[in-house]
Amino acid sequence: MEKHVTDAGIIIQPVYTQPVPLTELPGQFPYTRGIHATMYRDKLWTMRQYAGFSTAEASNERYHYLLRQGVMGLSVAFDLPTQIGYDSDHPMAEGEVGKVGVAIDSLEDMERLFKGITLENISTSMTINATAFILLALYVALAKKQGADLKKLSGTIQNDILKEYAARGTFIYPPQPSMRLITDIFAWCSREVPRWNTISISGYHIREAGANAVQELAFTLSNGKAYLKAALEKGLDINVFAQRLSFFFNAHNHLFEEVAKFRAARRMWANITRSLGATDAKAQMLRFHTQTGGSTLTAQQPHNNIVRVAVQTLAATLGGTQSLHTNGYDEALSLPTEEAARIALRTQQVIGYESGITDTVDPLAGSYYVEALTNEVEAKAWDLVARIDAMGGAVSAIEQGFVQEEIARSAYKYQQQVEDGEKIIVGVNKFTMEEQAAPDVFRIDDSIRRVQAERLQSLRARRDNQQVQALLQQLEAGARTEDNLMPLVVTAVENYCTLGEIADTLRKVWGEHR
Ligand code: 3HC
Repeated sequence: MEKHVTDAGIIIQPVYTQPVPLTELPGQFPYTRGIHATMYRDKLWTMRQYAGFSTAEASNERYHYLLRQGVMGLSVAFDLPTQIGYDSDHPMAEGEVGKVGVAIDSLEDMERLFKGITLENISTSMTINATAFILLALYVALAKKQGADLKKLSGTIQNDILKEYAARGTFIYPPQPSMRLITDIFAWCSREVPRWNTISISGYHIREAGANAVQELAFTLSNGKAYLKAALEKGLDINVFAQRLSFFFNAHNHLFEEVAKFRAARRMWANITRSLGATDAKAQMLRFHTQTGGSTLTAQQPHNNIVRVAVQTLAATLGGTQSLHTNGYDEALSLPTEEAARIALRTQQVIGYESGITDTVDPLAGSYYVEALTNEVEAKAWDLVARIDAMGGAVSAIEQGFVQEEIARSAYKYQQQVEDGEKIIVGVNKFTMEEQAAPDVFRIDDSIRRVQAERLQSLRARRDNQQVQALLQQLEAGARTEDNLMPLVVTAVENYCTLGEIADTLRKVWGEHR
């Protein structure tokens, strides 16, 4: 690998001498310099730590801990059975209940998850895709039980099924019914929960799968275009639904390429939405959450990761993120311990309150280097977007395997460079040392599957099973029409239909994607 070339193949010059004319202002189309005129001077980004494991009570305890430590928003991680539509007592759930996130089977679990938290007063992100429609319904049902004004309810569901087909794999249904569910959510939320962010179009996992910065940007925006077109085909108004699309990007180690990626992303999305008919400024703004790069964390000398996360936090905030999760230093080994989660949050707080980078908007604007890099990242990303458009758009590019192959190629090249020592990873292939005992890592107690199974048994004995069966039949009938399914799903969860029963009802109608 030649030196001073980024993973995306961008050659970094020894010196930048060409000033790039700076005509834009922050808060103005195409928003390269930030979506708000004042950005962090008026309001810091939302410090939103992703958390969730084991039972709803255990996760609820962590949320209260994080709120006491100063997080400004919640972010729920769900276990795989919840993500793929199985109740905790389903055979497929064996060994996974409560492992990578919290187990949620019913409205009772949601009540435990948010005990002592008033949903109207906080924004909650839920990282859920194939069953996003059920978790949204559960969240709204709980908010209604709390007496919340749904017009004020704020939060996000990830709801980005295309990246699941391309990079992550937690899908259930084939693309067509999955896109129908997503556009049902767009339409229903515009009416019922207008401040809800209906999708978090994710580049994070695409990058984690091995994509470089340009691929992360281009594949994510291409997925965004596919969602815009699916909603337009359904007759939805882009000036309404596009206001509540949001994005989710990765923050990797090459500080300035990452800042350039975020600035280019806003400029590209503003032009994409306008080209598809958006005239309302809020429909043209790219709003995003960032998570520092999980794949950059090393198991070796884990405390070095605190420095990596700090550099990545600077990339995200100098890049104008709206919301940020910082990884725990021990996450190459397990879910973060409480101490690691606290240090991760403190990293954001030190940079937010002590570094001075929030005093002015887009501090790196006008830098010969960063403006030139922003233009180069943008140009390469447009080329890749054009290739995907030529294949018929993101869905067909994924169906043809193009996106997966591109990611695999980048991942292989990166791994080779690490193994050849061309790419230095401190503590891994240089500056190594005799590893001390791994820090005490977070463990999930396996017994929680039994707890969840007992709770499901008790719930099924107490609820009105006739009503449940009638509602599931209505849902099955509704799925065979073009009607919006959300009202039926909300009523179903309010009557304690379980997540698995609802997911299975739709499996009967649409089958599963292979
Ligand atoms: N001037 C004026 N108004 C301002 C402002 C300023 N300087 N700064 C903020 N505001 C306003 C905003 O306009 C907004 O107003 P609105 O509610 O009327 O729209 C309000 O203040 C709140 O600001 P944001 O909406 O920017 O901040 P939020 O934190 O509420 O939302 C988001 C951010 C990106 C839009 C939202 O979608 C979000 O929170 N996303 C989070 C996604 C997330 O956490 N994902 C976790 C994924 S983990 C995962 O995938 C699994 C693992 O494998 C990685």
